[in-house]
Amino acid sequence: MAESLDSLKEKVRSLRSDFEAALRLATDAPALQAVHDRFLGRKSGSLTALLKTLGTLADDARREAGQELNRLKAELESRLGAAQSSLASTVRDARLTKDRVDVTLPGRAPARGHRHPLTVTREALEDIFLSMGYEVYEGPEVDDDYHCFEALNMPPDHPARDMQDTFYPKGAPGFVLRTHTSTAQIRYMLDNPHPPHVRIICPGKVYRRDDDITHSPMFQQIEGLVVGKGITLGDLKGTIEAFLHALFGAQFPVRFRPSYFPYTEPSVEVDLGCVVCGGKGCRVCKQTGWLEVLGSGMVHPNVFTSAGYDPKEVTGYAFGMGVERIAMLRYRIDDLRMMFENDARFLEQF
Ligand code: DAH
Repeated sequence: MAESLDSLKEKVRSLRSDFEAALRLATDAPALQAVHDRFLGRKSGSLTALLKTLGTLADDARREAGQELNRLKAELESRLGAAQSSLASTVRDARLTKDRVDVTLPGRAPARGHRHPLTVTREALEDIFLSMGYEVYEGPEVDDDYHCFEALNMPPDHPARDMQDTFYPKGAPGFVLRTHTSTAQIRYMLDNPHPPHVRIICPGKVYRRDDDITHSPMFQQIEGLVVGKGITLGDLKGTIEAFLHALFGAQFPVRFRPSYFPYTEPSVEVDLGCVVCGGKGCRVCKQTGWLEVLGSGMVHPNVFTSAGYDPKEVTGYAFGMGVERIAMLRYRIDDLRMMFENDARFLEQF
């Protein structure tokens, strides 16, 4: 069928407006591809079909129509290309919006750990003694009978050995898990013969067959030992009082009470006015108004002799206290087991 130039121009106009209408409706990549196929497809595109009719035109008309159709083809291709790239940037914008990171939001703070309340307490105790010129000395947790008992004036049949329920490690006759840090006093003196003066604290773990809300089979003590010429009970009292006031505050009275330990003579127990009720009497001080906080005394001459010091040359005092007990008083905790359970809800409070 022969085409006339006019009817072809008419077809170009309507094809262009069909194309524009179809393009407006195409909002995703498959739809754009369908528009391409419908107008420019090699097999069934309507523009392709028109191009095929060129041959039926007379020479003059064919040249003009050919230019017209090629312009149209270029125009459709560039309109499709533009639509594709604008679609691509819309998709990219949408993804950017969705993935946006608000850099002004406050960060999530990482959880930080902190030291255990017992460590904090032990270091607070050490700091006070370090400030008074004491040195820290540590002995072993497994020690022998001599350092733990015998040299501390507790010969094998001494009844005071029963005061402390001792753990004996299997297969190591003569050895014990130390029941108190007093063992370290002996070690220090045997290792340091004839020093001009001794001023040490010995922190460390001790072990006893004990387990209830105020006793644990493992706990910590801090031992103190001061030796020199002319050291007196007055020095002991002044030091202990200064220590307790530095730790708890000077408003609490300190009381020295006669007591008994095999390794000191005289022996004293030291009480502090109850830090919970201020001395009026409460559950923590068992209505007495006083808290027992440490044991101490003047080093027994037999102890000096066992440790290689001459009791005619030197005198000294010693003291020992439980770190857990002090921590419980400092933080008003009434169940010792809390300290060892590592429950984060408990530990976070310090
Ligand atoms: N060793 C004692 C205890 O385990 C504490 C103690 C009392 C230590 C008197 C001393 C002392 O050095 O002189 O409870």
